[in-house]
Amino acid sequence: MHDFDKGLAMRADAYVEDLFVPPDEGLSRGLEDAEAAGLPPINVSPNEGKLLHLIARIARASRVLEIGTLGGYSTTWLARALPPQGRLVTLELEPRHAEVARANLARAGVADRVEIRIGPASASLRALIEQHEPPFDLVFIDADKEGYVEYLDLSLRLVRRGSVILADNTLRRVLDGDPSADARGIEAFNERIAAHPRLDSLILPIIRGHLDGLSISIVA
Ligand code: SAH
Ligand code: DHB
Ligand code: MG
Repeated sequence: MHDFDKGLAMRADAYVEDLFVPPDEGLSRGLEDAEAAGLPPINVSPNEGKLLHLIARIARASRVLEIGTLGGYSTTWLARALPPQGRLVTLELEPRHAEVARANLARAGVADRVEIRIGPASASLRALIEQHEPPFDLVFIDADKEGYVEYLDLSLRLVRRGSVILADNTLRRVLDGDPSADARGIEAFNERIAAHPRLDSLILPIIRGHLDGLSISIVA
Protein backbone atom coordinates (compact mmCIF):
# COMPACT_ATOMS: atom_id res chain seq x y z
CA MET A 1 0.00 0.00 0.00
CA HIS A 2 1.37 3.41 -0.95
CA ASP A 3 1.60 6.13 1.62
CA PHE A 4 -0.83 8.89 0.66
CA ASP A 5 1.37 11.76 -0.39
CA LYS A 6 1.08 14.76 -2.64
CA GLY A 7 3.11 13.19 -5.46
CA LEU A 8 0.86 10.17 -5.58
CA ALA A 9 -2.29 12.29 -5.48
CA MET A 10 -1.04 14.42 -8.38
CA ARG A 11 -0.10 11.34 -10.41
CA ALA A 12 -3.57 9.90 -9.79
CA ASP A 13 -5.13 13.17 -10.98
CA ALA A 14 -2.94 13.17 -14.12
CA TYR A 15 -3.67 9.48 -14.83
CA VAL A 16 -7.43 10.05 -14.67
CA GLU A 17 -7.21 13.21 -16.76
CA ASP A 18 -5.16 11.45 -19.45
CA LEU A 19 -7.68 8.63 -19.68
CA PHE A 20 -10.99 10.46 -19.38
CA VAL A 21 -10.53 14.13 -20.28
CA PRO A 22 -9.19 14.38 -23.82
CA PRO A 23 -7.63 17.70 -24.88
CA ASP A 24 -10.36 20.07 -26.00
CA GLU A 25 -9.60 23.06 -28.17
CA GLY A 26 -12.61 25.10 -27.01
CA LEU A 27 -11.79 24.66 -23.33
CA SER A 28 -8.03 25.19 -23.56
CA ARG A 29 -8.34 28.28 -25.80
CA GLY A 30 -10.82 29.65 -23.28
CA LEU A 31 -8.31 29.24 -20.45
CA GLU A 32 -5.56 30.87 -22.54
CA ASP A 33 -7.76 33.87 -23.31
CA ALA A 34 -8.81 34.16 -19.66
CA GLU A 35 -5.14 34.21 -18.64
CA ALA A 36 -4.27 36.74 -21.37
CA ALA A 37 -7.09 38.97 -20.11
CA GLY A 38 -5.58 38.84 -16.60
CA LEU A 39 -8.27 36.69 -14.98
CA PRO A 40 -6.99 34.65 -12.02
CA PRO A 41 -6.41 30.93 -12.78
CA ILE A 42 -8.93 29.72 -10.23
CA ASN A 43 -11.23 27.74 -12.55
CA VAL A 44 -12.02 24.15 -11.61
CA SER A 45 -9.51 21.55 -12.83
CA PRO A 46 -10.19 19.44 -15.96
CA ASN A 47 -11.15 16.45 -13.81
CA GLU A 48 -13.44 18.53 -11.62
CA GLY A 49 -15.02 20.00 -14.75
CA LYS A 50 -15.64 16.47 -16.04
CA LEU A 51 -17.10 15.56 -12.64
CA LEU A 52 -19.51 18.53 -12.76
CA HIS A 53 -20.50 17.45 -16.27
CA LEU A 54 -21.15 13.86 -15.20
CA ILE A 55 -23.16 14.89 -12.13
CA ALA A 56 -25.32 17.17 -14.30
CA ARG A 57 -25.94 14.31 -16.73
CA ILE A 58 -26.62 11.76 -13.98
CA ALA A 59 -29.13 14.22 -12.47
CA ARG A 60 -30.63 14.76 -15.97
CA ALA A 61 -30.38 18.48 -15.27
CA SER A 62 -32.00 20.68 -17.90
CA ARG A 63 -31.90 23.89 -15.83
CA VAL A 64 -28.59 24.76 -14.18
CA LEU A 65 -27.68 27.76 -12.01
CA GLU A 66 -24.02 28.69 -11.53
CA ILE A 67 -22.80 31.27 -9.01
CA GLY A 68 -19.34 32.56 -10.05
CA THR A 69 -18.64 32.48 -13.81
CA LEU A 70 -15.05 33.75 -14.12
CA GLY A 71 -14.03 32.96 -17.76
CA GLY A 72 -16.75 30.35 -18.27
CA TYR A 73 -14.64 27.20 -17.87
CA SER A 74 -16.91 25.35 -15.42
CA THR A 75 -19.86 26.96 -17.23
CA THR A 76 -18.80 25.23 -20.46
CA TRP A 77 -18.53 21.82 -18.77
CA LEU A 78 -22.01 22.23 -17.25
CA ALA A 79 -23.60 23.69 -20.39
CA ARG A 80 -22.34 20.75 -22.47
CA ALA A 81 -24.26 18.42 -20.14
CA LEU A 82 -27.59 20.07 -21.01
CA PRO A 83 -30.17 18.53 -23.34
CA PRO A 84 -31.00 20.56 -26.50
CA GLN A 85 -33.67 22.70 -24.81
CA GLY A 86 -31.69 23.08 -21.56
CA ARG A 87 -30.70 26.40 -20.00
CA LEU A 88 -27.92 27.62 -17.75
CA VAL A 89 -27.96 30.89 -15.82
CA THR A 90 -24.58 31.99 -14.46
CA LEU A 91 -24.03 34.88 -12.03
CA GLU A 92 -20.89 37.05 -12.11
CA LEU A 93 -19.94 40.22 -10.25
CA GLU A 94 -17.21 41.46 -12.61
CA PRO A 95 -18.29 42.73 -16.06
CA ARG A 96 -14.74 42.05 -17.33
CA HIS A 97 -14.99 38.38 -16.35
CA ALA A 98 -18.43 38.12 -17.95
CA GLU A 99 -17.09 39.59 -21.19
CA VAL A 100 -14.30 36.98 -21.39
CA ALA A 101 -16.79 34.25 -20.50
CA ARG A 102 -19.21 35.38 -23.21
CA ALA A 103 -16.56 35.01 -25.91
CA ASN A 104 -15.41 31.64 -24.53
CA LEU A 105 -18.97 30.28 -24.35
CA ALA A 106 -19.59 31.37 -27.95
CA ARG A 107 -16.42 29.63 -29.15
CA ALA A 108 -17.37 26.49 -27.20
CA GLY A 109 -20.74 26.51 -29.00
CA VAL A 110 -22.93 26.84 -25.89
CA ALA A 111 -23.71 30.58 -25.87
CA ASP A 112 -27.30 29.94 -27.00
CA ARG A 113 -28.00 27.92 -23.83
CA VAL A 114 -26.28 30.27 -21.34
CA GLU A 115 -27.40 33.54 -19.79
CA ILE A 116 -24.82 35.54 -17.84
CA ARG A 117 -26.25 37.92 -15.22
CA ILE A 118 -23.83 40.59 -14.06
CA GLY A 119 -23.93 41.91 -10.49
CA PRO A 120 -23.58 40.73 -6.90
CA ALA A 121 -24.88 37.16 -6.73
CA SER A 122 -27.12 37.87 -3.74
CA ALA A 123 -29.03 40.53 -5.73
CA SER A 124 -29.23 38.32 -8.84
CA LEU A 125 -30.54 35.41 -6.76
CA ARG A 126 -33.19 37.64 -5.16
CA ALA A 127 -34.23 38.83 -8.63
CA LEU A 128 -34.57 35.23 -9.83
CA ILE A 129 -36.76 34.44 -6.78
CA GLU A 130 -38.95 37.49 -7.38
CA GLN A 131 -39.32 36.57 -11.07
CA HIS A 132 -40.72 33.18 -10.04
CA GLU A 133 -38.10 31.47 -12.15
CA PRO A 134 -38.93 27.76 -12.66
CA PRO A 135 -36.85 25.54 -10.35
CA PHE A 136 -33.25 24.70 -11.18
CA ASP A 137 -32.25 21.03 -11.27
CA LEU A 138 -28.66 21.76 -10.29
CA VAL A 139 -26.88 24.67 -8.60
CA PHE A 140 -23.08 25.11 -8.58
CA ILE A 141 -21.80 27.60 -5.97
CA ASP A 142 -18.29 28.90 -6.71
CA ALA A 143 -18.19 32.69 -6.04
CA ASP A 144 -16.84 34.57 -2.99
CA LYS A 145 -16.50 32.18 -0.08
CA GLU A 146 -17.98 34.59 2.51
CA GLY A 147 -21.22 34.49 0.57
CA TYR A 148 -21.67 30.70 0.48
CA VAL A 149 -24.22 30.45 3.33
CA GLU A 150 -26.36 33.20 1.84
CA TYR A 151 -26.09 31.65 -1.65
CA LEU A 152 -27.17 28.31 -0.21
CA ASP A 153 -30.19 29.78 1.56
CA LEU A 154 -31.28 31.74 -1.53
CA SER A 155 -30.63 28.74 -3.82
CA LEU A 156 -32.91 26.61 -1.65
CA ARG A 157 -35.76 28.89 -2.80
CA LEU A 158 -34.90 28.20 -6.44
CA VAL A 159 -34.80 24.39 -6.43
CA ARG A 160 -37.21 21.45 -6.14
CA ARG A 161 -37.19 18.16 -4.31
CA GLY A 162 -34.42 16.07 -5.87
CA SER A 163 -32.34 19.01 -7.13
CA VAL A 164 -28.58 18.87 -6.60
CA ILE A 165 -26.54 21.65 -4.97
CA LEU A 166 -22.75 21.60 -5.46
CA ALA A 167 -20.15 23.92 -3.94
CA ASP A 168 -16.46 24.22 -4.81
CA ASN A 169 -13.55 24.82 -2.44
CA THR A 170 -15.20 23.43 0.67
CA LEU A 171 -12.10 21.73 2.17
CA ARG A 172 -8.80 23.53 1.70
CA ARG A 173 -9.40 26.74 3.64
CA VAL A 174 -10.89 24.78 6.53
CA LEU A 175 -8.09 22.20 6.63
CA ASP A 176 -5.44 24.93 6.44
CA GLY A 177 -6.81 26.41 9.67
CA ASP A 178 -6.94 29.67 7.72
CA PRO A 179 -8.30 32.41 10.06
CA SER A 180 -9.82 34.44 7.17
CA ALA A 181 -13.45 35.38 6.71
CA ASP A 182 -13.40 33.14 3.63
CA ALA A 183 -12.49 30.10 5.75
CA ARG A 184 -15.16 30.95 8.30
CA GLY A 185 -17.68 31.28 5.48
CA ILE A 186 -16.81 27.82 4.17
CA GLU A 187 -16.90 26.32 7.66
CA ALA A 188 -20.34 27.78 8.29
CA PHE A 189 -21.49 26.51 4.88
CA ASN A 190 -20.25 22.99 5.59
CA GLU A 191 -21.93 22.91 9.00
CA ARG A 192 -25.15 24.16 7.41
CA ILE A 193 -25.29 21.49 4.69
CA ALA A 194 -24.43 18.84 7.29
CA ALA A 195 -27.29 19.86 9.61
CA HIS A 196 -29.94 21.11 7.14
CA PRO A 197 -33.20 19.15 7.30
CA ARG A 198 -33.74 19.53 3.53
CA LEU A 199 -30.26 18.37 2.51
CA ASP A 200 -28.37 15.10 2.40
CA SER A 201 -24.71 15.90 1.72
CA LEU A 202 -21.07 14.93 1.53
CA ILE A 203 -17.80 16.65 0.63
CA LEU A 204 -15.74 14.87 -2.00
CA PRO A 205 -11.98 15.57 -1.80
CA ILE A 206 -10.64 17.03 -5.06
CA ILE A 207 -6.98 17.11 -6.07
CA ARG A 208 -5.80 20.21 -7.89
CA GLY A 209 -2.15 20.69 -7.09
CA HIS A 210 -3.40 20.90 -3.55
CA LEU A 211 -6.30 19.12 -1.89
CA ASP A 212 -9.67 20.88 -1.87
CA GLY A 213 -13.26 19.66 -1.90
CA LEU A 214 -16.55 19.68 -3.77
CA SER A 215 -19.68 19.45 -1.65
CA ILE A 216 -22.60 17.48 -3.07
CA SER A 217 -26.11 17.86 -1.63
CA ILE A 218 -29.47 16.52 -2.69
CA VAL A 219 -32.59 18.50 -1.76
CA ALA A 220 -35.33 16.63 0.11
N1 SAH B 1 -16.66 28.73 -11.64
C1 SAH B 1 -15.47 29.26 -12.26
C2 SAH B 1 -14.56 29.93 -11.24
C3 SAH B 1 -15.22 31.03 -10.46
S1 SAH B 1 -14.02 32.01 -9.60
C4 SAH B 1 -14.71 28.12 -12.94
O1 SAH B 1 -14.49 27.11 -12.25
O2 SAH B 1 -14.37 28.21 -14.11
C5 SAH B 1 -15.09 33.04 -8.66
C6 SAH B 1 -15.84 34.10 -9.47
O3 SAH B 1 -16.82 34.65 -8.59
C7 SAH B 1 -14.97 35.25 -9.94
O4 SAH B 1 -15.16 35.48 -11.32
C8 SAH B 1 -15.49 36.45 -9.15
O5 SAH B 1 -15.46 37.67 -9.86
C9 SAH B 1 -16.92 36.03 -8.86
N2 SAH B 1 -17.50 36.71 -7.70
C10 SAH B 1 -16.87 37.16 -6.59
N3 SAH B 1 -17.74 37.74 -5.76
C11 SAH B 1 -18.96 37.65 -6.35
C12 SAH B 1 -20.26 38.09 -6.00
N4 SAH B 1 -20.50 38.72 -4.85
N5 SAH B 1 -21.27 37.85 -6.87
C13 SAH B 1 -21.05 37.18 -8.03
N6 SAH B 1 -19.84 36.76 -8.41
C14 SAH B 1 -18.81 37.00 -7.59
C1 DHB C 1 -9.35 29.76 -5.46
C2 DHB C 1 -9.83 28.60 -6.07
C3 DHB C 1 -11.14 28.52 -6.43
O1 DHB C 1 -11.66 27.38 -7.01
C4 DHB C 1 -12.02 29.56 -6.21
O2 DHB C 1 -13.30 29.41 -6.56
C5 DHB C 1 -11.55 30.73 -5.60
C6 DHB C 1 -10.21 30.83 -5.23
C7 DHB C 1 -7.92 29.83 -5.06
O3 DHB C 1 -7.20 28.88 -5.32
O4 DHB C 1 -7.54 30.86 -4.50
MG1 MG D 1 -13.70 27.40 -7.06
